[in-house]
Amino acid sequence: MSHAGPPGSLNDHDEVFRLVFEAAPNGIVVIDESGTVVLVNRQAEKMFGYERQEFIGLRIEDLVPERLRPAHVRHREEFSQSPSQRAMGIGRDLRARRKDGSEFPVEIGLTPVRSPTGMLVVSSIVDTTERTRTENELRRYAAELERSNADLRNFAHVASHDLREPLRKITAFGDRLRKHCEEALDERGRDYLQRMTDASHRMQGLIEDLLAFSRVSMHRLPAGDVDLNEVLDTVLEDLEIGIGETGAVIERTQSLPLIQADRSQMGQLFQNLVGNALKFHQPGQPPRLVVTATSPTPGRVRLEFRDHGIGFEPRYAERVFGIFQRLHGRNEYEGTGVGLAICRKIVELHHGTITALGEPGVGATFVLDLPLQQPGSPAP
Ligand SMILES: Nc1ncnc2c1ncn2[C@@H]1O[C@H](COP(=O)(O)OP(=O)(O)OP(=O)(O)O)[C@@H](O)[C@H]1O
Ligand SMILES: [Mg+2]
Repeated sequence: MSHAGPPGSLNDHDEVFRLVFEAAPNGIVVIDESGTVVLVNRQAEKMFGYERQEFIGLRIEDLVPERLRPAHVRHREEFSQSPSQRAMGIGRDLRARRKDGSEFPVEIGLTPVRSPTGMLVVSSIVDTTERTRTENELRRYAAELERSNADLRNFAHVASHDLREPLRKITAFGDRLRKHCEEALDERGRDYLQRMTDASHRMQGLIEDLLAFSRVSMHRLPAGDVDLNEVLDTVLEDLEIGIGETGAVIERTQSLPLIQADRSQMGQLFQNLVGNALKFHQPGQPPRLVVTATSPTPGRVRLEFRDHGIGFEPRYAERVFGIFQRLHGRNEYEGTGVGLAICRKIVELHHGTITALGEPGVGATFVLDLPLQQPGSPAP
C-alpha cells in the first residue's frame, strides 16, 4: 500500500509546521539533553534580543539571570531524570535574561519530546511584564483602599468617642442651669437656653449613632448559625409596645431560613427595618409590614420587608442608606438617619446587598440578598 500523496505534499506540511511554529505568540526555545539551544522561533528572538544564529548553540542558562543559574542547573537535572509536561516554577517568580543583561518576568511551560536525535525539551515562554505590573498595581490599590478605609473607620470612632465627653458636660451644665438658675433668666434667656440644650441633646444622639455605626464597621464577624425566625421574633417582642400602640399588623409569609451570620447584627438589621416600617406609616392608618423569604439563587436568601406606609420618591432609593440622610422632617419622625447606613454596613459585612424601592403614599420595600454560608467557612 502506498501513502504517497500529491508530489511535494510532505514538504508543504513541513512548511506549514514551520510557519505555525514561527507565528506562535509564545516564545519557543527547544534545547537538547545537554541544555544547548537547538531551535527557536521568532517570538523568542524578539523576547531575548538574540539573532537566530547567535541564539542557536547558547546554553539555556545564558537565558537565566546569573544569580539564578546554579539553581536552574539543578532543576534541569531533576527534570531530565523524570521528564513530564509541566509548568515551570508554579507559584514562583520566574525571571529571564535578555542579551543585554536586562531581566523580565516569565511563565514557562515545559514539554519533553523524544526525537530521533535524543531527548529534547520544548519551553513555551510568555513574557508577563505587563500582567505582573497590572497585578502589582491592583494589589497596591487594594492595600491603599484598605488603609484609607481603616483610617476613616478609626477617625469616625475616635472622633465620636472623644466628642462624647465635652458634649456630655455641655448638656449636663445646660440642664443644671435650667434647673437651678432659670428664675434669674428672662424669657429670651430661657428660650436661648432651651434651644441650646435641645441642640446638645440632639448632637449627643448623633454622636451615639455615629459611634454605633463605626462599631459595626470595626466589628469582626463571628459566623454562627442564626435562625432568622428567632431574630424576627425577638425584634417583634422588643417592639411590642410600639406595635400594640399603633395596632401594627406584621405578617411573615414564609418561614425564614437559618443562615451563617452574626446574631446581634442580624437583630440590629431587622430592628431598624421593622422600626422604620412602624415609624413611617400612613397617618391615621395602622402600620402594615410583610416579610417574605425566597431563594431565587441557590445558596442565597432574598428577604423582603414590604410596608404600606408613606413611602418615598424612587429617586431617593440610594440616598436613604447614606449616613445622617433623612427624607422626612425631624419634627414629624424621630431619628438621626443612621439606621439604614448601619443596615447596609451589616449586610455588606455579610457579603450581601440591600436595596430600597419606594413610592410616595404607597409604601417602601427593602430587599436583602444574603448568602446562607459566609465565604471561607466550611459548609455545615
Ligand atoms: N419604611 C420606610 N418608609 C418610608 N421612608 C423610609 C422608610 N425607611 C426609611 N425611610 C426614609 O429613609 C430615611 C433614613 O432611614 P434610617 O433608618 O436610616 O433613619 P431614621 O429612621 O430616620 O433614623 P434612625 O434609624 O437613625 O433612628 C428616613 O429618615 C426616612 O426618610
Ligand atoms: Mg431608622
